[in-house]
Amino acid sequence: MNRIERLIGEMSLAEKLGQLTMTAAGHAVTGPIVAADATEAIKAGTIGNLLNLFGADRVREMQRLAVEESHLGIPLLIGFDVVHGHRTLFPIPLGEAASFDPQLWALTAREAATEAAADGLTMTFAPMLDVSRDARWGRSAEGPGEDPWLGARMAEAKVRGFQDADLCAADALAAVAKHYCAYGAVTAGRDYASVDISERTVHEVHMPPFAAAVAAGVAAVMPAFTDLAGIPMTANGALLTGWLRRRLKFDGVIVSDFNAVGELIRHGIAADLTQAAALALNAGVDIDMMADAYRRGLPTALERGWVSMADIDASVRRVLRLKARLGLFDDPYRRGKTPEAAPVIAARRQLARAAGARAIVMLKNDGILPLAESVRNLAVIGPLADAAAEMRGPWWGAADPEDPVSVLAGLRGMLGELRVPHQPGVEIDGENVAGFAGALELCAQADAILLCVGESAAMSGEAASRAHLGLPGRQRQLAEAVLERARALRKPVIAVLFSGRALIVPWLIERADAVLAAWFPGSEAGNAIADLIMGRVSPSGRTPVSWPCAMGQVPLFYGQRPSGRPGDPMDRFTSKYLDAPDAPLFAFGHGLTYGVFALSDLRVTADRVSENDTLEIRVDVANRGARTAEETVFLFTHDKLASVARPLLELKGFGKIRLNPGQSGTVTIFLDANELCFLGPDLEPVFEPGEVEILVGPCADRSRLLVATIHLVPPRP
Ligand code: GLC
Repeated sequence: MNRIERLIGEMSLAEKLGQLTMTAAGHAVTGPIVAADATEAIKAGTIGNLLNLFGADRVREMQRLAVEESHLGIPLLIGFDVVHGHRTLFPIPLGEAASFDPQLWALTAREAATEAAADGLTMTFAPMLDVSRDARWGRSAEGPGEDPWLGARMAEAKVRGFQDADLCAADALAAVAKHYCAYGAVTAGRDYASVDISERTVHEVHMPPFAAAVAAGVAAVMPAFTDLAGIPMTANGALLTGWLRRRLKFDGVIVSDFNAVGELIRHGIAADLTQAAALALNAGVDIDMMADAYRRGLPTALERGWVSMADIDASVRRVLRLKARLGLFDDPYRRGKTPEAAPVIAARRQLARAAGARAIVMLKNDGILPLAESVRNLAVIGPLADAAAEMRGPWWGAADPEDPVSVLAGLRGMLGELRVPHQPGVEIDGENVAGFAGALELCAQADAILLCVGESAAMSGEAASRAHLGLPGRQRQLAEAVLERARALRKPVIAVLFSGRALIVPWLIERADAVLAAWFPGSEAGNAIADLIMGRVSPSGRTPVSWPCAMGQVPLFYGQRPSGRPGDPMDRFTSKYLDAPDAPLFAFGHGLTYGVFALSDLRVTADRVSENDTLEIRVDVANRGARTAEETVFLFTHDKLASVARPLLELKGFGKIRLNPGQSGTVTIFLDANELCFLGPDLEPVFEPGEVEILVGPCADRSRLLVATIHLVPPRP
């Protein structure tokens, strides 16, 4: 009999339910601590998993209690939200998505895993894979943006990065794909609100990243807090056991979100903790995070016949199997055994700096960037300029608030003669305008003005929905005063926006000479921004979300289905707003570089394509600018006539090319024809003969795309 079956055979019910329980470490000034009762439960074997505990010594002590003092010596799973870094933070995931760089995504996850494992961690509650098309929802910051295909690519890369080739390696973490699923479609963008969308949209838009994570071998999945059409995901047997396990063949662990099992009572489908525990276990949830419902509810549920011991054993088996895959039975102390060497940490910081720069999207540039040598006085104004802690973004892991490099520190840390006077002018979110005068005074002596504005880290992420997507507090008034003064003095203004979402600031976009969307760039924020502004790095980021012109456009995304009355400004009875454009201010994929690129000569290897073919799509690219830069070319498709109305554009690939001034090259993108399958009327994949457009260009703006047409045909006999 193998070890796992032997253990299950020896376990009491309380020990089994302990393996299905994850409780949080508390926080003291010294850092994470485990409450005394939890410590006793670990020794008794009635808690088998912890979250929010890190630090090699602290973890080692908790493992020692479990392994050396409990009856069966089963090691602990120790999980934490290492979402975009542990102590060294990379850009928030929405920012990393903007790099459109799967290798970078994998590399930063690998580095985050290494750093977290050195702190004793074995599991990260990441990647967050919720497609979001509603900028009101603060958790857009944590995810891959609005596109399911991009979300799927990010899922693969992050799972590969966190888990590496072998989960039992001392620097591998078990990844948790979250939050399954469609959490990004919360009603009115309000976090934790109900989700009620079509089954088609669930499977076309929200499921692909999770399917990709499962195919990539993700160790665990976390259901969303939310209900989906009235069935809370934590009790959604159809999608957990039915779809995730049976259809997608997921054989890993399903871990609930924080207290989500207990919240089935508030959802109104469980009368008490016993019923909540039974509903969750029967739906397929293995680990109850922080509700203590399994330990307190399942014994009674068992007595009442609401659950079976076989199902309890099946969940225990999956948890023990994950611990075995992590190598915890062989050496429970392998993670955190060896402190990291200084050069490793330094190299990681350099990666964070490079990633920070690649995440930044240059939305606008009238030519002021990169700053000319003649700029000797750069006035830095705004509350986000000297805000190291905010650069971390909403999931800051174990990163010290003072650790990140602020914009001001990055600029002042550069070699050379540049003077960098600074005034915040206002707080991020407050009514105090006493600092206006001091800020405006800087304009007179400045050669250029850097306006650092936006959200605080806590204004996006979990429980951070916003109903107004402009600048918080009195920042708009400050920015308008600076823009006015700068215009009068004929001084250029560069605006840097910090946010966990697309902001609605058309007035700023129109009047600033350049605008950078920096998201929250992480530990090396200031150096990354300085590298970009001074021209050491050319901006290459492309926005993974559409930027609205007006609040009323939200939710806004490029992949909309056609209307029977497509918008026509000359025809009243067509789909449009009377008081706003229907197009975004910036389309998905938009992002300027320091080059000037032109695309030409789109060619596709085949005209008639069957399902098993692979298309080669080529386009020529020329850099007509004066500086070396990297261009990203997107591949979209549009199925013009099908048994189901298809989105006007669907992202199916992208390519990148770096060109010197005057240089030309060719981007080749491969497309497997089976990627042109879609969910037919019965929601089953279908490859339908007919015309499909191949569209290639710089963003999801059809007017800027080169178009070719191919013909899908049945397989050759
Ligand atoms: C939170 C989040 C989830 C996180 C978990 C543990 O409420 O919803 O993303 O992983 O709890 O911190």
